Amino acid sequence: MKLAILSKEPNNYSTKRLVEAAKTRGHQVKVLNTLKFALDLEEEQPDLHYRQKLLSHYDAVLPRVGASITYFGTAVVRQFQQMGVYSPNNADGILNSRDKLKSFQILSKHKIGIPATVYVKDKKDVLPALERVGGVPVVIKLLEGTQGIGVLLAHTVESATSIIELLQSQKQNILIQKFVSESKGKDIRAIVVGDQVVAAMRRVAQGQEFRSNVHRGGRTEMVELSDEYKEVALRAARLLGLGIAGVDMLEGKDGPQIMEVNSSPGLEGIEGCTKIDIAGAFIDYIAARVDFPEIDLKEKLTVSKGYGISEIQIPENSEYVGKTIDESGLREKDINALTLHREGKVFPNPKGQREIEAGDRILCFGKIDSMRDLIPEKTRRRRKPRTIELSQEDIDIALER
Ligand SMILES: Nc1ncnc2c1ncn2[C@@H]1O[C@H](COP(=O)(O)OP(=O)(O)O)[C@@H](O)[C@H]1O
Ligand SMILES: [Mg+2]
Repeated sequence: MKLAILSKEPNNYSTKRLVEAAKTRGHQVKVLNTLKFALDLEEEQPDLHYRQKLLSHYDAVLPRVGASITYFGTAVVRQFQQMGVYSPNNADGILNSRDKLKSFQILSKHKIGIPATVYVKDKKDVLPALERVGGVPVVIKLLEGTQGIGVLLAHTVESATSIIELLQSQKQNILIQKFVSESKGKDIRAIVVGDQVVAAMRRVAQGQEFRSNVHRGGRTEMVELSDEYKEVALRAARLLGLGIAGVDMLEGKDGPQIMEVNSSPGLEGIEGCTKIDIAGAFIDYIAARVDFPEIDLKEKLTVSKGYGISEIQIPENSEYVGKTIDESGLREKDINALTLHREGKVFPNPKGQREIEAGDRILCFGKIDSMRDLIPEKTRRRRKPRTIELSQEDIDIALER
């Protein structure tokens, strides 16, 4: 294949290793400086110029877009996608992971551990937010920090509120996050490539430092990940839409807590620590998928008038419970079952003989009018009751009543 690596830094360790891995596998490879592209938008002809020349054909692109050029870099990646060039990480995936709030918003809908996090604007919301994440010490984070810069630990309510006020007065967006103290300056970095965790290490902060970033002096050590940690890393990458990712997890007392997901994980620390050919794994993954460029499913499936995608939830009293997909008559109604979700499991392309159970969620493509009849009236989502810790004072007051 002919591969373009998008990077501003052709000489850094990761870029050099990726070039080397591609070459030893017999691929053609070029490092292209992300900032030297011009994006041409014309009717039916999205195109790219590189250093003032029309770009030649590439089979795949591997974006290594740094945080300082997210907007332009993701625009370049999106342009490659529009031109039908395969990329293991698409522009949306990169944007999802780059913004810590956005990634938590996406993950928080799922059963996947994340430290309790609150995003506030109004001053009046700060104190209640501190309480809701478990009080001090508390972590305060800039939305788009990297290398540990922009991550602070506040030990008192007073320092937390003044830090937050100061940052907000500087127009910084910040997150207030529970301090996962049991992780004690350690975290896990897992490298996800497609459906596999190809390498993992533990990073350990040194001295008084609570941040384990290598740039903050964190040391690395080998770690054998349990299936639970692997599964969480894979799911996080998938949910954010990344084929290649570095997933950072804190070792919480109830299991892994996702802290952030990187779309361009550095290779130096982890290859040095694990001696695994991670660059090679990236290249093999891309080469195996190069014939499957990104397709905008929504765009493709909704072009036919009157057709669309919908998820149908099967309630207990549904007439479909106990019937097979063939017997359900969905096909006759011009509805195709694409996937069936059942208790965290997914059955892609469910067979006609598969029986439908209460609680199933069936992702369908079909005639909108027919699907509308199948969707039960919206029931208000019941919120999980929160356990509220009562103080002795609360109990006394309640008993007096
Ligand atoms: N909620 C938290 N609890 C405990 N430690 C944390 C928490 N959030 C971050 N850290 C520590 O700070 C480091 C940097 O935080 P992170 O969110 O990854 O920011 P960055 O993008 O700057 O690396 C982490 O690697 C971890 O060691
Ligand atoms: Mg980090």
